[in-house]
Amino acid sequence: MKVLVTGAAGFIGSHLVENLVGAGHHVTGLDDFSTGRPDNLAAVAGHPRLTLVGGSILDRELVRELTGGCHRVYHLAAAVGSFIIRDRTLEAIRTNIHGTEHVVDSAAGAGARLLVASTSEIYGKNDKVGLTEDDDRVAGSPLKSRWSYAEAKAIDESLVEAYVRERGLWAVIVRPFNTVGPRQSGRYGMVVPRFVRQALAGEPLTVFGTGEQIRCFCHVRDVVPALAALTECDAARGRAVNLGSSQQVSIAGLAREVLAATGSGGGMVSSSYLAAYGPGYEDMMRRVPDCSLARELVGFAPTRTLADIIADVIADQAGQGTPAGSGLAAGPRPAGQVAGAGPPRGIP
Ligand SMILES: NC(=O)c1ccc[n+]([C@@H]2O[C@H](COP(=O)([O-])OP(=O)(O)OC[C@H]3O[C@@H](n4cnc5c(N)ncnc54)[C@H](O)[C@@H]3O)[C@@H](O)[C@H]2O)c1
Repeated sequence: MKVLVTGAAGFIGSHLVENLVGAGHHVTGLDDFSTGRPDNLAAVAGHPRLTLVGGSILDRELVRELTGGCHRVYHLAAAVGSFIIRDRTLEAIRTNIHGTEHVVDSAAGAGARLLVASTSEIYGKNDKVGLTEDDDRVAGSPLKSRWSYAEAKAIDESLVEAYVRERGLWAVIVRPFNTVGPRQSGRYGMVVPRFVRQALAGEPLTVFGTGEQIRCFCHVRDVVPALAALTECDAARGRAVNLGSSQQVSIAGLAREVLAATGSGGGMVSSSYLAAYGPGYEDMMRRVPDCSLARELVGFAPTRTLADIIADVIADQAGQGTPAGSGLAAGPRPAGQVAGAGPPRGIP
């Protein structure tokens, strides 16, 4: 099939592109390389079934042009990461609302099946153990920039719902919960790659707040096959679907696991949210998904543990490639060394 992936050079996008190209599809990737990197696609660079285009989802005509003739559209492009939402709030809101509108409208016009990446942030401060898709949002103030990401993604979801109901669009929404793995950058606020980077440098790991916040981390290689499967699942049309792990860990517990796995003696240091994010920052104490719907629809059942995730992120950052047994080719390689590869086409 002919497939468009927005955010193709990003963390999740690059793993998805590898999966789709490997499955025999003709993939066009669109990315503005704001947080993504062409190097993330080194394993498939120059592949005859991959075209990588540098451009923005805010460019309505470009999105329409690339969507034309596509059978499937995976919309992953977004302004992501708490530091980006804090520092470039306006740009992030525009990207996450107007950019998504362009993609949704173009997919409807092209008659393509669409998957839209939303987020577990949708649930806001709801700390129920085992959040299900119809649980209420417990929203923080829209005047606190931290919540603008969830606000924008919520509008995206409403837009998709309306296009499905009123315009006959085939679409599914996914709500990933803390997806982690090789190629995720720690520069924009993601905790696992940031901890691993600090540990490998022998620095203390900076824990924001009490460290008692509970999260569930899921390996990107457990999440990506579910994205492809949901897009082929007729019963998923019009649904929002949680994707995540149910293995709970506190942030301080995560830090201890990273210290043990790296053998770092750097220890931990705590920092207030005020110091990290400025005044008015709010966090949720717990975020734990119930993924029964994903299991029912496509047999979603993550197999990789937190220890596996940490080991893979350490290997990635230490430049050792992907550990044996992951079922995938080695991690990112420079494009010039990929067999049969030329430079990715379309990169400006
Ligand atoms: N990683 C997670 O834990 C997580 C959790 C919930 C939701 N998500 C969602 O999954 C999707 C992918 O996230 P990710 O973790 O891979 O982050 P990422 O930052 O690695 O990927 C986002 C990609 O979108 C690109 N992009 C940003 N603005 C763009 C624009 N205007 N035009 C074109 N490309 C643009 C970036 O360069 C990047 O490659 C996002 O929609 C995100 O909201 C991720």
